[in-house]
Amino acid sequence: MASDEEVVGTVKDQLAKLFEESLRVTVPDQTDTDPLIAACNPRFGDYQCNNAMSLWTKIKGTGSAFTGPQPVGQAIMTNLPRSEMIESCSIAGPGFVNVKLSRQWIAKSIQKMLIKGIETWSPKLRVKRAVVDFSSPNIAKEMHVGHLRSTIIGDTLARMLEFSNVEVLRRNHVGDWGTQFGMLIEFLFEKFPNMEVVSDQAIGDLEAFYKASKQRFDSDPGFKERAQQAVVSLQGGQEKYRKAWSQICEISRKGYEKVYQRLGIVLEEKGESFYNPYIPGVLEELAKKGLIEESEGARVIFIEGKKYPFIVVKSDGGFNYASTDLTALWYRLNEEKAEWMIYVTDVGQREHFEMLFTAAKRAGWLPPGDNSYPKANHVGFGLVLGEDGKRFRTRSTEVVKLVDLLDEAKSRCKAALVERGKAEQWTEEELEQTAEAVGYGAVKYADLKNNRLTNYTFNFDQMLNDQGNTAVYLLYAHARICSIIRKSGKDVEELKKTGALVLEHPNERALGLHLLQFAEIVEEACTNLLPNVLCEYLYNLSGHFTTFYTNCQLRIMVNLVVNVLWGQRRRQADSCCVKRLQRSCGNAFIYLVFGQS
Ligand code: ARG
Repeated sequence: MASDEEVVGTVKDQLAKLFEESLRVTVPDQTDTDPLIAACNPRFGDYQCNNAMSLWTKIKGTGSAFTGPQPVGQAIMTNLPRSEMIESCSIAGPGFVNVKLSRQWIAKSIQKMLIKGIETWSPKLRVKRAVVDFSSPNIAKEMHVGHLRSTIIGDTLARMLEFSNVEVLRRNHVGDWGTQFGMLIEFLFEKFPNMEVVSDQAIGDLEAFYKASKQRFDSDPGFKERAQQAVVSLQGGQEKYRKAWSQICEISRKGYEKVYQRLGIVLEEKGESFYNPYIPGVLEELAKKGLIEESEGARVIFIEGKKYPFIVVKSDGGFNYASTDLTALWYRLNEEKAEWMIYVTDVGQREHFEMLFTAAKRAGWLPPGDNSYPKANHVGFGLVLGEDGKRFRTRSTEVVKLVDLLDEAKSRCKAALVERGKAEQWTEEELEQTAEAVGYGAVKYADLKNNRLTNYTFNFDQMLNDQGNTAVYLLYAHARICSIIRKSGKDVEELKKTGALVLEHPNERALGLHLLQFAEIVEEACTNLLPNVLCEYLYNLSGHFTTFYTNCQLRIMVNLVVNVLWGQRRRQADSCCVKRLQRSCGNAFIYLVFGQS
C-alpha cells in the first residue's frame, strides 16, 4: 500500500499497477505488455482492462494453455491482486475485465483530495519545460478572430500544463519583421517628414495606415522602390529606420495588449525580429548537414512527400517565415532548453509546421517518430463562422475587431443582470466585474468546448444562454455550490478534520467517482492538447452535481417530512415519494425549501 506521502497517481494509474501485476503472473513470457485501462460504460462497471484480445492474438498457436481471449481475460481477473480499491470484477465479451470500484475507497480518496488540496493531484507529465507559441498577431495588421482563437486555446493549454507542473514559456511570436515594414516606414516618413516622435494619434488607426500605405505601394512604382530600399536600411540596422520600426511596433502592441488585459492573459513577446540575428548560423548548420539545396535561385529544404520545398532563403536573398521558424525552434531547444514546443495557429498553417518539424527531425534536432521528447506539435484550429455559415465578419464585411467583440459580450451580460434586478442589489463595480467574468468567460468557453479542429459558429445568444453547455451555466452551478456552502453554516475547514465522507446514494457515488477522475482528464487533455476534453468534464461535473443535489437533498427532506408528519418508516418514503413530490411540486418545492430557483 502506498503511504500517504507517496505519489498515488490517477485512478487509471493505480488500476494499471494492479493489472500489471496480474499480467506478469498470467502471461509471464509477454514481458512488454502494458496494461490497457479505460473508463467504461457505467452499465458494466467503472473501468475496464482491454488486454485479453491482443494478448490472445500474440499467444495463440504458441502452445499456450489458453483456448481463447475470454479465458485469458478470466485469468487476468483471477490473478488480480487483492486491493481495497476494487469492489467487484466481471468479464464481458471477448475477455474485457470490468472493474467496479469500492465506494469506501472512492470516499476515502476524495477525502484525501479535499484535505491535501487538488494541486497534489495534478498529473505527472514527462516534460519539465514547454514553449507554448500562441496568439502571435502581425504588427500593423488586424488581429482577427483567428488570433482570438489562438489566444484562448494557447492560454488554456499553457494553464493546463502549468497545473501539471510543467514550466511554460508563453511566447508571443509576433510578425514584427519582413518586407511590409519597408512600406510602412516609407509611408510614415512621407506623411510625417519632420516628426521626431510619431505619436499614436498621428498614425491613428494603424490598420487604416497599413491599408493606405499598401495602396501607395501597389500604385506607385517609385514608392515601391523606396520601400524596398527601406527594408534594406532597416535590416542593415540604420538608426532612423530602426526607430520608425519600433514606433510602429509599439503602437500595434498597445492595441493587442488591450485584448490580453481583458482576458487576463500573460505572455512574453519574442517576435520574429528577435530570431533574425541567429538565422545565418542556423542555416549554416543545416547546410553543413547537407539539408539545404539550391532551387530556382532560392535555398530550400526538400521534404519527402511534399509538392513544394521548404524555402529558407528567398531568391532575393531575404529570410522568411520558414527561416525564422527554423531558427526559433533551434533557439527554443538549445537556448531555452524546452522539451516540448507547441504552436497554436489555424489549420491553414499545418503544412508549414509539418515541413518545419520534418526538417528539424532530419537535422537531428528532434527524434524520429512522435512519441519521444523533445517534441514539437502544431495545435491547429478551425474557422470561426458567422450565422450565415461563412467566415465571421461584421455587417460592413470588415474583419471583426476583437475588443468590440469582448465589449459586446460584456454589455449583453450586464443588460441581462440588470434585467434580473441585480442593479438594485449590487454596486456598480460588482455589476461590472460579474458582467466581465461571465461575458469574457462565455466567449472563451464557446471556443474551447468544441474540438478545436472543427469550425464553430459565433453566436452571442447561444454562448450567453444559462441553460445549455455554456460558461454561464457552469458559473451558475459554481455560484450555487458556493451559496449552499454559505447557507449550510458549516465550516469546510472544520469538516475536513472531523467529517467522514459517505457515498451512499448512487448519485453521490457517481459524483464522487467523477471528481476523482479529474487528474486523468487533465492528463488526457494535456497529452492530446485538447481543451475540449476538460470542458466536457466540467460540464458533466455540473450535471452530476445537479443530479446529486436534486435527488439527495430531496431524499433527505422527504424523509424528514414523512417521518415527522406521517410517522412512516424512512425506507418506504424513499423513491416513490421523491417522484411524486417532484412531479407535483417540482421546482416550486425546491424553491420554497432551499430558497433558490
Ligand atoms: N504571425 C502568424 C500569423 O498571424 C502566427 C505565428 C505563429 N507562430 C509561429 N512560430 N509561426 O499567422
